Amino acid sequence: MTVATKSPRLASRLINGILSIKPLANFAKQRARQMMIDRSDSIGVPWLERVAELRSKDLEADLEQVKNAQITYPDYYLRPFHAYDAGNLGWEAATEVEVAAYAVHSRIWQDAGADGDPKLRRSYHEILKQQIQTAPLDILDVGCSIGMSTFALQTNFPTAKITGLDLSPNFLSPIANLSLIPTTSLGCTPPPNLQVYPMLHSIWCRCF
Ligand SMILES: C[S@@+](CC[C@H](N)C(=O)[O-])C[C@H]1O[C@@H](n2cnc3c(N)ncnc32)[C@H](O)[C@@H]1O
Repeated sequence: MTVATKSPRLASRLINGILSIKPLANFAKQRARQMMIDRSDSIGVPWLERVAELRSKDLEADLEQVKNAQITYPDYYLRPFHAYDAGNLGWEAATEVEVAAYAVHSRIWQDAGADGDPKLRRSYHEILKQQIQTAPLDILDVGCSIGMSTFALQTNFPTAKITGLDLSPNFLSPIANLSLIPTTSLGCTPPPNLQVYPMLHSIWCRCF
């Protein structure tokens, strides 16, 4: 049961009101971003270098492989999101989502540092495995983003056929680039025999 109180609504209206003033919103965005970069660096995940590495790849070519011109995006998907003006449909979000995940998840457990993200994924897979009796044959990772959850699924269910699905071709492009796979997930290296096949707005991974 969720108990609604008036004060959080008031507070969020106040914050939204302040953030509707563009210069203040930009200032807050920059501060929040710098905080994330500093946190990432402090846990040994070099934000700027990793993002520069991803941007140095020919992601545009990969984008062509995974783009699906038939898709009509829902309205919510076309709005700015997580302080990215282009939302999830841009390179900024696509190349920063990995380091951002490490930075954010480093605080779930005290002193987890860069192990916070892999630990989070290990913890929910452990619960998942307790709930299912037989190993799954097919897994659909809906909202797979750049594949961190997809690779973690592959590690946990190595014999399953795993499909990653996402609305953002920009997110799928880094994993469509085979050369990026060994480093796509900093702490979660996929099995060496993993194959990735780009499909329309989805990536199909399979261990042979
Ligand atoms: C929080 S992220 C998921 C992260 C990822 N599963 C992981 O654990 O690292 C949510 C993802 O859902 C995707 N998404 C949002 N709406 C979607 C939709 N209607 N269909 C498919 N993917 C969607 C976004 O593009 C984004 O990559």
